[in-house]
Amino acid sequence: MMMDKNIADLRKDYTLQDLHESEIDPNPFIQFKAWFAQALAAQLPEPNAMTIASATPDGKPSARMVLLKDFDERGFVFFTNYNSHKGQELAANPQAALVFWWAELERQVRISGRVEQVSAADSDQYFYSRPANSRLGAWVSNQSEAIANREELERRLQEFQHQYANQEIPRPPHWGGLRVIPTEIEFWQGRSSRLHDRLLYRRLDDGSWKIERLSP
Ligand SMILES: Cc1cc2nc3c(=O)[nH]c(=O)nc-3n(C[C@H](O)[C@H](O)[C@H](O)COP(=O)(O)O)c2cc1C
Repeated sequence: MMMDKNIADLRKDYTLQDLHESEIDPNPFIQFKAWFAQALAAQLPEPNAMTIASATPDGKPSARMVLLKDFDERGFVFFTNYNSHKGQELAANPQAALVFWWAELERQVRISGRVEQVSAADSDQYFYSRPANSRLGAWVSNQSEAIANREELERRLQEFQHQYANQEIPRPPHWGGLRVIPTEIEFWQGRSSRLHDRLLYRRLDDGSWKIERLSP
């Protein structure tokens, strides 16, 4: 077997907290807001970092990290290049799954649902709040496309620096926000002996949320 014995021996018992039906909010967005506030208060390094999984229409999955930039009762928003690998996949098959792992709190949140583009006005609002270098980066990078070498990227940066030297850097039309509109949100709290707490909110047709405890 290729697995190093030391890897196989790595394990941690989770004992920090529990998650009980009596203490959660019936609205999963309010529950998420509470957990996110606790992740912020705990000063985790990047509490808004999340994995997003997408898939081709015939079901070939891919996943990567992105940063949550906004959330409300409409859903969970991140920003990216619409022409990127994920952008194309989510255009062809607008279904995604998100995962947060807040290790220091022994908590996982899983979200899944349909994906839509946020409005151009919302994308503008966030884009123009970014530092100039990040705005330029959105022009420089043909995200997910092969490039010959690092120098090519640096050369493109110089070109765009020159082009926008004396003007505001506009938002590229291929760059903006995507919103995951959840139909399922699961809150996972690590517990001892792998008997974790899992509470799953499922959105019903009438818009209400049904909460179930899942076996760990
Ligand atoms: C912590 C972290 C945060 C990231 N945030 C973003 C993000 O918000 N948007 C984005 O497009 N890429 C982000 N990336 C880069 C992506 O993980 C990925 O490399 C890139 O989006 C290309 O993915 P794709 O080829 O599957 O489209 C982030 C990476 C890390 C490690």
